[in-house]
Amino acid sequence: MKGIVVSRVRSVILGCFVLLVLAISSTAQSKSKITKAPFGTADGKLVDVYALRNRKGVEARIMTYGGTVVSLSVPDKNGKLGDVVLGYDSLADYQKSTFYFGALIGRYGNRIAKGKFSIDGKEYTLATNNGANHLHGGVNGFDKVVWTAHPSVEGDGPHLELTYRSRDGEEGYPGTLSVNVTYTLTENNELKIVYSATTDKPTVVNLTHHSYFNLAGAGNGDILRHQLTINADRFAPTDSGSIPTGELRTVKGTPFDFTKPVAIGAWIDQDDEQLKYGNGYDHNFVINKDGNALSLAATVYDATSGRLMEVFTTEPGVQFYTGNFLSGSIVGKKGQNYPRRSGFCLEAQHFPDSPNQPKFPSTVLRPGQKYEQTTVYKFSIR
Ligand code: BGC
Repeated sequence: MKGIVVSRVRSVILGCFVLLVLAISSTAQSKSKITKAPFGTADGKLVDVYALRNRKGVEARIMTYGGTVVSLSVPDKNGKLGDVVLGYDSLADYQKSTFYFGALIGRYGNRIAKGKFSIDGKEYTLATNNGANHLHGGVNGFDKVVWTAHPSVEGDGPHLELTYRSRDGEEGYPGTLSVNVTYTLTENNELKIVYSATTDKPTVVNLTHHSYFNLAGAGNGDILRHQLTINADRFAPTDSGSIPTGELRTVKGTPFDFTKPVAIGAWIDQDDEQLKYGNGYDHNFVINKDGNALSLAATVYDATSGRLMEVFTTEPGVQFYTGNFLSGSIVGKKGQNYPRRSGFCLEAQHFPDSPNQPKFPSTVLRPGQKYEQTTVYKFSIR
């Protein structure tokens, strides 16, 4: 008898406990929220990770070092959340890395030939960190600095505003650049990135975001069977050092034709000069659009998970990069390896080397003007 009473009491307690957990998690799911946790120190400054969660339980974790998206958990076709971006578990790994996992890129996304350009007849020399060329803002680009964070849950979803003041002459760039980037996790499962910048001297600016996505989940093999569509009739061929030649070539009849859905791996190893130069895809596509309205740049679908990602941007171009320089020796989150082509990037941007290419849309920013760009990564299932 005593035994029965004890087991009844136990099951009542257990039942109450289960109800309590459900109550807590249902409140957690019905409210969007932001939590903050320490992630170490860089340059003597504390680095924090902010976890933005929307009402559906989708979560983006973003750290102040590099404005880096550390994880992005979105549902698959069975409703199971999975992290779809590559990254590391420790700050030290991000500090050592040259892959730009999840980072904000600036002042200039992609390459500037020989690290040189002129504005108003004055030549500037930038840090070179990619052979003879300047890549992604230089040795200490925006991916390697600590940003100031201002979190908020007001508006269209939890958001994190990040600010950074880049000093005159940083990495060789003229002008003090005041940069503002806001990540919002909307209730439509979009990660929206709104950038703005102002300067006190004429300069060049081209900001972007460098997440490596794997819609099957980070660490779950390569991305070669993902189906890709890019809304671009033209792309920018490069020389062997990945500097655009200035030509904007039609994709028709080439392995760069993603105007209809094609597996990323369908043609990647074809005997093609451009694919050889890039070691795969590492090219800027010219988005079909007039003006700078927010418009669809690309769609990627992974049939195994059912996850679909759409990329919208106000920018004229998108760099499609297939993680050609990743290698199995990289130890990422949870000790998982990231072999070659286990993630892809879709970096919305102005075209590489624009400061030296008079026919490309200008990237010059002058005092009194405001640089602005918006890019949205939208997740759903099919
Ligand atoms: C560039 C690649 C580079 C990679 C760095 C991409 O945006 O286009 O050439 O290797 O970033 O991880």
